[in-house]
Amino acid sequence: MKILYIKCNPKPDNESFTHRISKEFIKEYAKKNPDHSISEINLYEYGIEHLSYESMCQVFENNGRMFETAKDFSSYDKYIIAAPMWNLSIPSILKAYIDHIVVKGITFRYNKFGLPIGLMKNKKAIYLGTRGGSYPFPLSLFAFDVRYVRYVLRFIGIKNFKSFILENIDKNRIKAENKLESNLKKVRVLAKNF
Ligand SMILES: Cc1cc2nc3c(=O)[nH]c(=O)nc-3n(C[C@H](O)[C@H](O)[C@H](O)COP(=O)(O)O)c2cc1C
Repeated sequence: MKILYIKCNPKPDNESFTHRISKEFIKEYAKKNPDHSISEINLYEYGIEHLSYESMCQVFENNGRMFETAKDFSSYDKYIIAAPMWNLSIPSILKAYIDHIVVKGITFRYNKFGLPIGLMKNKKAIYLGTRGGSYPFPLSLFAFDVRYVRYVLRFIGIKNFKSFILENIDKNRIKAENKLESNLKKVRVLAKNF
């Protein structure tokens, strides 16, 4: 089983709540599944850029960055995506990565009626998100981070999707620190069942 961990926060590990929950998730997952191989893509080191015209042309000839990134992404069985909320959405570097992996003929196709069909079957994903504030309904309607990731993954066929969102981190960091251990406990349960 091949697992891909997509890391999307430029902060050092010890200064980031996102990294702390994702590290715990991975530690627990690895403990439960010692024979699974877990690869990490740190988007800030991976060199992902905005889609280039060159890449968009090359993909039709089965080469270039978009083609290679989508091919690589499609070779995994499970995905762990960890990101903070930035301006009501995901960090733009994660959006840039998503633009490279949603590729016709690799992760989705159109059927004869022109409807999109996801090609990423029997895969699973979890989104570990953090937010400075909180988004109870109706504010949740403007929280485009996890909603976007859920739907874009569904578009390419990944329907088995779970999420864990840690809120109010910036509103009260001391409280967030104090509540971290009980949240890590929840993360460990999710990891065991992933
Ligand atoms: C550029 C930027 C934009 C942000 N926008 C939001 C936002 O729209 N809503 C929110 O609740 N928090 C926002 N935050 C706060 C982050 O979500 C929060 O600091 C982060 O999730 C904490 O996790 P970390 O320690 O892993 O960075 C923003 C932070 C930054 C740096």
